[in-house]
Amino acid sequence: MQTGPDVVDVALGDRGYRIHVGANVLEMAGQLIAPVLRRKRVAVVTDENVAARHLATFTASLDSSSITHDVITLPAGERVKSFAHFETLLDRLIGLQIERDDAIVAFGGGVIGDLAGFAASVLRRGVDVIQAPTTLLAQVDSSVGGKTAINTRRGKNLVGTFHQPRLVLADTSVLKTLPRRETKAGYAEVVKYGLIDRPDFFAWLEANGARVVSGDTEATRHAVMTSCRAKARIVSADEREAGSRALLNLGHTFAHALEAEAAYEGRLLHGEAVAIGMVKAFELSSRLGFCAAGEVARVRRHIADAGLPTSVASIPGFDAVHPRTLLDHMRQDKKVRGGRLTFVLAKGIGHAFIASDVEEEAVIALLGEDLAAAA
Ligand code: NAD
Ligand code: GLY
Repeated sequence: MQTGPDVVDVALGDRGYRIHVGANVLEMAGQLIAPVLRRKRVAVVTDENVAARHLATFTASLDSSSITHDVITLPAGERVKSFAHFETLLDRLIGLQIERDDAIVAFGGGVIGDLAGFAASVLRRGVDVIQAPTTLLAQVDSSVGGKTAINTRRGKNLVGTFHQPRLVLADTSVLKTLPRRETKAGYAEVVKYGLIDRPDFFAWLEANGARVVSGDTEATRHAVMTSCRAKARIVSADEREAGSRALLNLGHTFAHALEAEAAYEGRLLHGEAVAIGMVKAFELSSRLGFCAAGEVARVRRHIADAGLPTSVASIPGFDAVHPRTLLDHMRQDKKVRGGRLTFVLAKGIGHAFIASDVEEEAVIALLGEDLAAAA
């Protein structure tokens, strides 16, 4: 039986919006987008992989709702989240005479979502953005919540804005063309919600995660919906990360340092870095006496079963990296306050908390043992 998309509402008053999740959302995109437009004109920002596979379906749907569109296609990959590409994108949007009443559609993974969202937030002091995420990672995390960013030479996501989308369109059928490695990377962010405060969801993932990773339609829909509901709830409670939203950064203090050290190259995907980071966060929690070793083992086992890396040493080229180099990257983390690192730790699966008083030496020791295991 063909059913319509599921809906999650992000409750943010007059900045609130709807997330549509389903297998036929792209074909309905024009109909769903039209009501939120001030003028029936959009600029679609996408990347070359997404354009080759899904752009025709998307633009046909815009055509059928008489929405005029221009398309800007960028190279694929994390390195597009840079000042250079940001400038080029803005220049092209201005060249197309995108006006304040027009909208930008970010049609792609988290890279396109973050870059196009950032451009939308500053173009002519802000135009509307619609997120149409095409990776598992973007559907369960980056398209929701309004964080936009680019990377700088000194670190990940260090320049950006909060700019909530007007609408999120998550078509789960486009995930069928996603390379398996990317699906697994996105799965790491799904696991994150279970680890933060949904032990029941983590248990469901232990039983059904393999179905999500292999692209099973129903399991994927359930995982995307549960993740979007979890993220919507956290964002509604703390839009600008004054407190509890920081829990969404579980594993990210480690992950961002690893990505910076890997120079945003394809040898380490964001989701893979998050997978390693979550294992390290649980190991650190155990080491500091917060979390039982059995819980850490359960987390590590599930992440490994999903085909994701669990150690820093497993990253290609990291055998000669010194723990203090990684700690230096961590000092650029946006959660640093008064020079003190903040970590998201856990008292067990589903019981994450924010810790701003972690001794650096404990982190160094943990990373040192990980890297020494490879030697
Ligand atoms: P990505 O955007 O680079 O996409 C991964 C790869 O998949 C790319 O090569 C892309 O071209 C390709 N692709 C995308 N959709 C496809 C499809 N349907 N079929 C085939 N190929 C497809 O990476 P990502 O994992 O989606 O996003 C990672 C980024 O998201 C990171 O920069 C991270 O910092 C950011 N992020 C942001 C937030 C936020 O709240 N803003 C949250 C989590 C992650
Ligand atoms: N991905 C972290 C956040 O949206 O806050």
